[in-house]
Amino acid sequence: MVAEGAERNDVLLALVDASTVSATADESSVFVAPAAAAAGSRVGPPARPGHVSRTEPSVTTYHPTLNPLPDELHSPRLLLRPYRLADADQIFVAVDESRAHLRPWMAWVDGHTSVADSRDWCARCAANWLLRAELTVGVFAAASGRHLGCVSLHDPDWDLRAFRIGYWLRASAVGQGYATEAVRLLVDLAVGPLAARRVELRCDARNGSSRRVAERVGFVLEGRLRNAFLASDGQPADELIFALIPDSARFRPA
Ligand SMILES: CC(C)(COP(=O)(O)OP(=O)(O)OC[C@H]1O[C@@H](n2cnc3c(N)ncnc32)[C@H](O)[C@@H]1OP(=O)(O)O)[C@@H](O)C(=O)NCCC(=O)NCCS
Repeated sequence: MVAEGAERNDVLLALVDASTVSATADESSVFVAPAAAAAGSRVGPPARPGHVSRTEPSVTTYHPTLNPLPDELHSPRLLLRPYRLADADQIFVAVDESRAHLRPWMAWVDGHTSVADSRDWCARCAANWLLRAELTVGVFAAASGRHLGCVSLHDPDWDLRAFRIGYWLRASAVGQGYATEAVRLLVDLAVGPLAARRVELRCDARNGSSRRVAERVGFVLEGRLRNAFLASDGQPADELIFALIPDSARFRPA
């Protein structure tokens, strides 16, 4: 049973690999170029409010699934790429060493207890990548291939071209600028090829490290929602909302 499941996942991941090759002529015909998007033009019928569903097919003739995505993103120190099943062991080690560090800010950490959870995570990330429902990439050291953490564009609104960004680093990788570097790479993908009009970043108001990442990249603080969610300690917490738009004077590419 396990082997069959693994085979199915490998097929899925092979599909993901195939979906990340450069745009074909057909694909490029549905891809909204940044300039066209900025001018307000769109492909397909008028905008449908709300986000792309993770289960229902799109009701428009515009297919987010056909947006070409790069196989990899690079900076001098980092490689960002979609997860593969083979990453599961590394991911689990990274999560396991980081529980105390992640727990205050990441609700999922205590439910992630085995390598099987990491494999499941890889498969879900691959499926969401294929559906363009969530664009999650692993952050790896360019030189060694060591898994450092994760960055994600989630809750995409393909009509508005808006995304939310989230991230975490393993405990032994903090304090070296990797998160800022990785967030910049993903923001560059969002405001460049994906023609984002808005990238939003939300964090617990007490999360100073995350707030400083937002500020270094050039996100603008738009507001503070009081008692906006229940934090991992079960207590209501305030949430800061940052956003970045491409023509923001404060947008600071790497
Ligand atoms: C949020 C999180 C990713 C930030 O990690 P981080 O390591 O502080 O951020 P960066 O990787 O950008 O590193 C920046 C820090 O490294 C320092 N640094 C050291 N060497 C550096 C270098 N070569 N280049 C850049 N910065 C460097 C910077 O001065 C900065 O320190 P400061 O924040 O104390 O001023 C991390 O704390 C984390 O994983 N937290 C738990 C999960 C979480 O909160 N996620 C966000 C939810 S909204």
